[in-house]
Amino acid sequence: MSELQSNAALPLVEHRATPAQEFLLDVIEGFSQPQKTLPCKYFYDERGSKLFAAICETEEYYITRTELAILAQALPEIARRVGPACDIVEFGSGAGIKIRLLLEGLHQPRCYIPLDISSEILEQSAAELAGQFPGVQVVPVVGDYHKPIILPEEFRQGSHHRKLVFFPGSTISNFTPEEALGFLSRIRDILNPGDGFLIGVDCVKPATILNAAYNDAAGVTAAFNLNLLERIASTFHTNLRPQHFFHHAFFNAEQSRIEMHLVSRRDQVVEIEGHRFGFRQGETIHTENSYKYSLEDFNRLALATGFTTDQVWQDPERLFSLHYLTAC
Ligand SMILES: C[S@@+](CC[C@H](N)C(=O)[O-])C[C@H]1O[C@@H](n2cnc3c(N)ncnc32)[C@H](O)[C@@H]1O
Repeated sequence: MSELQSNAALPLVEHRATPAQEFLLDVIEGFSQPQKTLPCKYFYDERGSKLFAAICETEEYYITRTELAILAQALPEIARRVGPACDIVEFGSGAGIKIRLLLEGLHQPRCYIPLDISSEILEQSAAELAGQFPGVQVVPVVGDYHKPIILPEEFRQGSHHRKLVFFPGSTISNFTPEEALGFLSRIRDILNPGDGFLIGVDCVKPATILNAAYNDAAGVTAAFNLNLLERIASTFHTNLRPQHFFHHAFFNAEQSRIEMHLVSRRDQVVEIEGHRFGFRQGETIHTENSYKYSLEDFNRLALATGFTTDQVWQDPERLFSLHYLTAC
């Protein structure tokens, strides 16, 4: 038998990249673009998740406290719509702060599936929630919501229980409009007609409020943004120094989005695992977008993806919106 024939007879072995290899490929791809970029999912290592929790406590970052207040007020109506013994899945569940309100206020929820890319924070919050709500089956899933997602059996089509997808924190703002359309369509696909989708969406508002929220005086958001470079520096063989960059965030009114960037303080050549990338002084790495929606724009998105827009709640200042959508 020839070598070629014997090789052809070998079973195919699927090669899956390790998380570090995938991270490196994303960094190389992002740094090779004319506008350098990094995917925002890499913010959330253990330190990044802690920094995000600290951002939520800053005076300038109105999102968390505003959404919590809206949620507390809307809870009886949400519970009425969802009914008893529902199964909940939350995407980007993080520290699991907001779900506590739902688990307390809904009528005996049956099962809670938190999904997050950050295994550290997910494990910790799932363990806390399981202890605090012994009547609820907590099934954590580490995953990337941009990739095809296989949810536990409880949440598949055909379950007899009402399903509720929870997506708070305006994490949808990190998606481009096209990605948002695709994501809502995928959510619709895992629901049955009549199931619910509760989603928090940040609203268009004066640029001064937005710019302050992403440039807090204590510098927590700056540390969060720069942590991306810390993560690269601690994961790979590199000469990259986070202190050679600074945080820059601003409202881009034309695109209706906050943009976060890391700006190079000097002309420099960054080498990562043998790959070289030139930076001019002032050149940026685009690290995150946070799109701001009008109620009309978000309703259009929901209607286009197979939902009816049943109810929306806002705070008195109309900073934030919480939408209850029903799958058609
Ligand atoms: C803006 S924070 C919101 C956290 C929380 N839901 C809240 O309302 O405060 C985004 C969350 O999504 C997670 N995340 C980011 N990118 C992700 C991805 N691609 N797949 C899954 N989770 C992701 C982060 O770890 C983080 O917990």
